[in-house]
Amino acid sequence: MSYDLLLREGKINGMTTRNRLHMGPAEKNYANRDGSMNQRYIDYLVARAKGGAGLITVESTYVDVRGMGHHYQVGAHTDDVIPGLRRTAEAVHAANSRVGLEIYMGGRQSPAYMTQRQPVAPSAVKCEVLGPPAVPHELTTAEIAEIVQKFADGARRTQESGMDYVLLHGAHGYLICQFLSPYSNKRTDEYGGSAENRGRFGLEIVKAVRETCGDDFPIGYRITAEEYVDGGLTIEDTTQYCRKLVDAGVDWIDTSGGIYESFYMILQGNEAPKGGFVDNAAAIKETLGNDAIVSATQRLSDPDFANEAMHRHGLDYVSITRTFHADPEYGVKVAEGRTDEINFCISCHQCVNLLENNKRADCSVNPVTGYESERRLRRVSNPRNVMVVGGGPGGMETARLLAEQGNRVTLYEKGPELGGQFVYSSKAADDYGNFPRYLISQINKLDVDVRINTAVDYDLIEEENPDAVVIATGILPGIRFCPVAGGARTFDIFTAIDRDDDDWEDEVIVIGGDFAVCFVALYVAGRGAEVTIVEPNSTIAFDKASPAKDLLIKALTDLPTAHIRTEATVEEVGEGYVLMQHEGVLERLACGSAIFGGRVPNNRLYDEIKQRNPDREVYNIGDSVLPRLVYEATQEAWQVAELISLKA
Ligand SMILES: Cc1cc2nc3c(=O)[nH]c(=O)nc-3n(C[C@H](O)[C@H](O)[C@H](O)COP(=O)(O)O)c2cc1C
Repeated sequence: MSYDLLLREGKINGMTTRNRLHMGPAEKNYANRDGSMNQRYIDYLVARAKGGAGLITVESTYVDVRGMGHHYQVGAHTDDVIPGLRRTAEAVHAANSRVGLEIYMGGRQSPAYMTQRQPVAPSAVKCEVLGPPAVPHELTTAEIAEIVQKFADGARRTQESGMDYVLLHGAHGYLICQFLSPYSNKRTDEYGGSAENRGRFGLEIVKAVRETCGDDFPIGYRITAEEYVDGGLTIEDTTQYCRKLVDAGVDWIDTSGGIYESFYMILQGNEAPKGGFVDNAAAIKETLGNDAIVSATQRLSDPDFANEAMHRHGLDYVSITRTFHADPEYGVKVAEGRTDEINFCISCHQCVNLLENNKRADCSVNPVTGYESERRLRRVSNPRNVMVVGGGPGGMETARLLAEQGNRVTLYEKGPELGGQFVYSSKAADDYGNFPRYLISQINKLDVDVRINTAVDYDLIEEENPDAVVIATGILPGIRFCPVAGGARTFDIFTAIDRDDDDWEDEVIVIGGDFAVCFVALYVAGRGAEVTIVEPNSTIAFDKASPAKDLLIKALTDLPTAHIRTEATVEEVGEGYVLMQHEGVLERLACGSAIFGGRVPNNRLYDEIKQRNPDREVYNIGDSVLPRLVYEATQEAWQVAELISLKA
């Protein structure tokens, strides 16, 4: 497949770009506490510039501290940030990419618990999904004028620092979007009521930025084309508004969607189709024609799909965020046709889960993301012989890293294929298959000696006598939380997924409602069985943060065959029934088969080595330490590979 449109040179106002791959903005919590850039963040961006992003929008960048979102977010609120931004622009330019800031204020969606300030908004409408929400201050017209000026100042700082363009954040329910939206704008003055009045704030910002930066400076506008809430913006509203934006001086519209109340649309996952905003971008392009550049964001990292969408709908650029976060070399791999080597995002939402906890937005499938400065792969001078036991994501990632460093690696998997728990996850959620596919392609390229169908025991390790052993043996399922009477049909999370689709009885009870077992419930309910999840907590998927948790709960509640019973326990599993307790009352539920979600670390081999040969160099990583997420497994893979190679 040729990627003629993706790879063609582009032009936005006077700015040329080497291709049409826009690395979309993503807050990462990597900057300094005062909003200035640091070397770590610059190194992250330069890796993506070298990796083929034609233009890079850094992240939503606050123009006033009352509108920030996270402590370590980039700011354009004071001239003090200019030197750091200048270093950023120079470094990205040296790698042949264009770079810009997305300037914004969070408005009612700015978390007061982060900013320690009362948020400001068009109206005093709380954002209930923000925890804990604060009532925003309703801006006076004089304060609105000050904020318009702050946007103009933010754009000036962007330009003065040598950046190539500015993107106005008019999307995702932040301040500019709040003014435009009848959902959040309840004003009765000239900034509220009619579409013309609601659009005034955004247009004033565009005019002020254009006046400040001159005719030649590219101005983009990221728009929420639909808000997906009752009484919110529709594509009809926003296409008309885009025309006004362009008339006022905007060169480029980047199409997104959703607000915090519909967060599942801002960040879509496995449940969603590819390119969910392409149709809206096409509608905007049809309205604007050649008067503006139009792009779309959202699940467009499949280059075949993206190139075809550009052909079909006349889109000028595509915005790709999460896959550039996962694989800095995405652009180069597309350009060189090495698409089988792309480390695609798996839509696990760990980056945003970390961010929501005010942590750094690391990546589950790339332990180097965000650590480009310090986690550099070094070639060892004296290669070591390493046995890696367990062919799941943690074991494969360790094997890959060790082999990249030049060690001699043998990877053992007791089953017939590599992938570990991801073989199962990917049956419930396609994107999870991306990671094992990528790892296998790398392991093959690196000549790792792979031995499938090979169980490893203590004697084999003694016989091989390697320099180091890595245990990545994952979990053991089958923990039962209650008595099981004879004749009852029970499964664990693996045997459940292995079952033939047609074999499921009418009623299935899933015992325990953590994230992993909910995925299994979704999978089984999707095959027609009536599935009831019984969970003692007040919510299911409690071990995962939003939006992954909300997406999963929504997917389950959308399915008529899935049912959720919280604050309930299963007391007994019998043949054809379970006894469920809720508020102290026992209820008998029909049950053709029961799935137990319990699992424990499979650490037997590690313990045995430690006991019988304490001097052996052995490491335990991932779920065989404690059942957690793939994120922990890959982070530990890095640490262990580094430790082993340091001893070389
Ligand atoms: C961790 C994270 C932070 C994000 N921060 C921003 C942001 O600062 N500004 C913005 O407009 N979009 C932000 N987004 C949304 C992305 O730019 C993008 O629209 C979304 O991830 C869908 O595109 P993708 O499928 O290519 O990732 C963020 C997404 C993630 C995952």
